[in-house]
Amino acid sequence: PSERLQLKDRIRQLLRERDAVMVSHYYVHPDLQDLAEETGGLVSDSLEMARFGRDHAARTLVVSGVRFMGETAKILSPDKRVLMPDLDANCSLDLGCPVDAFSAFCDAHPDRTVVVYANTSAAVKARADWLVTSSCALDVVRALHAQGRKILWGPDRHLGDYIRRETGADMVSWQGACIVHDEFKALELELLMKDHPAARVLVHPESPADVVALADAVGSTSAILNAARQMEAKEFIVATDTGMLHKLRTLNPGKTFIEAPTAGNGATCKSCAHCPWMAMNGLADVARVLETGAGEVQVDPALGLRARVPIDRMLAFTA
Ligand code: 13P
Ligand code: SF4
Repeated sequence: PSERLQLKDRIRQLLRERDAVMVSHYYVHPDLQDLAEETGGLVSDSLEMARFGRDHAARTLVVSGVRFMGETAKILSPDKRVLMPDLDANCSLDLGCPVDAFSAFCDAHPDRTVVVYANTSAAVKARADWLVTSSCALDVVRALHAQGRKILWGPDRHLGDYIRRETGADMVSWQGACIVHDEFKALELELLMKDHPAARVLVHPESPADVVALADAVGSTSAILNAARQMEAKEFIVATDTGMLHKLRTLNPGKTFIEAPTAGNGATCKSCAHCPWMAMNGLADVARVLETGAGEVQVDPALGLRARVPIDRMLAFTA
């Protein structure tokens, strides 16, 4: 058998021996998505990854995704061992929102409820009143707005703008961006739509406003999956990480999924829409961390306790 199949078998065996379960994000390599599902784990969005890791009985969690996902798992299960294939797998939103500067921003707006996206460090989460992922951000802010609360949002500016437009909430926003979704281009998307007039357009709200404006459905990774399954159309243009195409195609064999364009000036980039940090997750590293115990996520316990408050609030809100 090929090296790939041997590695998969080895991982299956290690998961059993080490009382471990694997949780993968939709953006990682298809092998890691399939393996998680085949072995009783989960492939999903960041919200459901957090919930599954918290509720599963296994003593070790292997989180294939990016660092904030491993940290969230550890914060929710401090007594479990949380392993990641590569601890350097980060996120531009997390990197672009250092806790000292973000805290100063919060201090400058003491009258605002601090709502923070999951794609942040444990320290930034500890400074927040609420945590949200893209699948519940709109509902949480809508509920807070209905209570008359003013919002301080961070770090993704496009998602923040989208929520403000949708809810009418009074929001000030940190100006971070996702390096993947920020690259989708409206002009090129319109041209592609002209070539595929029957196609429906599915967009993740970390994309720029002019791209979101062209969407038939806007939402998190899970919302995009649901929309693709429910819509009658046979063809879809997808503005999110190309890792999503695996699940979209497997679940919808009769439908066609086309990548949304990512470069301006007519020079369409075919491979830009893949997160370089998600791409750091590989089979060999999963096997290695299970074998050696390397790649263990550590979160300071006192910090974890504070960061857990807004995470628990989100999980209760979405239960
Ligand atoms: P989801 O919360 O939709 O899984 O997205 C996480 C992410 O990193 C999006 O780029
Ligand atoms: Fe972060 Fe964007 Fe990568 Fe998601 S796709 S982990 S938001 S850089």
